[in-house]
Amino acid sequence: MYIDIKPLWTTIKNNIIEKISTLNKTITLAAVTLKPDDATQNYLKNQEKLAKKLGINYSVYEAINRNQLFSILRELSSDNNVHGIFVTHPLPGIEEMEAVNMISPEKDVEGRHPYNMGMLMYGSEFFAPCTAEAVVKILEDITKLSGANVVVVGRSTTVGKPLAIMLLRRDRSATVTVCHTRTRNLQQITRNADIVIAAAGKINLITSDMVKENSIVVDVGINVTDNGIVGDVNPEVSEKALVTPVPGGVGRITTIILMEHVVKAAEKLKLT
Ligand SMILES: NC(=O)c1ccc[n+]([C@@H]2O[C@H](COP(=O)([O-])OP(=O)(O)OC[C@H]3O[C@@H](n4cnc5c(N)ncnc54)[C@H](OP(=O)(O)O)[C@@H]3O)[C@@H](O)[C@H]2O)c1
Repeated sequence: MYIDIKPLWTTIKNNIIEKISTLNKTITLAAVTLKPDDATQNYLKNQEKLAKKLGINYSVYEAINRNQLFSILRELSSDNNVHGIFVTHPLPGIEEMEAVNMISPEKDVEGRHPYNMGMLMYGSEFFAPCTAEAVVKILEDITKLSGANVVVVGRSTTVGKPLAIMLLRRDRSATVTVCHTRTRNLQQITRNADIVIAAAGKINLITSDMVKENSIVVDVGINVTDNGIVGDVNPEVSEKALVTPVPGGVGRITTIILMEHVVKAAEKLKLT
């Protein structure tokens, strides 16, 4: 069966709208990009649509080279009218760390800055990486994590690693195994899991014979095919387990969490 993400999305959206109404000021999200490809432009358009729906002011800054990108990021970081900064990834010819280091941690609504990443180690998730937070919120909404045997497939800095840290936090206390391309017997590991999180970017990586009956499978993967976007999980898995859909699953919650972070940034900047 597929998990219906809409109620969680609606709860987060309503919470954002309520907070914006009490803040009583214009909240601004700036998106910064460099030579965006079609997929990135499409993503930015969808982001803009959602921001407008929520009443968040949204602007895109398109740099033409590395120097201009860095100077835009510095300017936006010191602009008091900008509350959150989103940078598209990957940036051609630029290491992710170089770009995120240019952003003020207080405006790093994607939770990629080393400060915000470091805070995760101490259990503080003021700005956790949005996709990792989306997975945690989806799971907390439908199950108890304490003691659950969770397998994360993927160890990237944006998804797998922060997610593992978040799942280990004492108030969640999952038992976490992280797998990657050097993992031996992936099937044997996932088959024993109560929860499998597929974040590898490989079509059909998780098949029915790899999951336990009635387990939960969160599909983070986004793979572009001629027939549209598909995840990492083979559709047949939904006959055996509870699965998040792609599209309209983790990605949808990730984008609304980004907007929630912008509002949090605006609230915090108001207080300091
Ligand atoms: N839904 C969303 O909002 C959202 C957000 C971000 C990303 N994504 C999607 O999530 C997927 C992962 O993104 P990412 O940025 O984490 O990707 P990434 O940086 O490419 O990392 C992929 C990870 O998966 C592991 N992996 C790849 N193939 C594997 C295999 N056959 N068996 C086991 N592990 C394997 C890799 O292992 P090694 O470390 O050994 O190479 C790596 O750790 C992509 O499809 C991406 O588009 C979705």
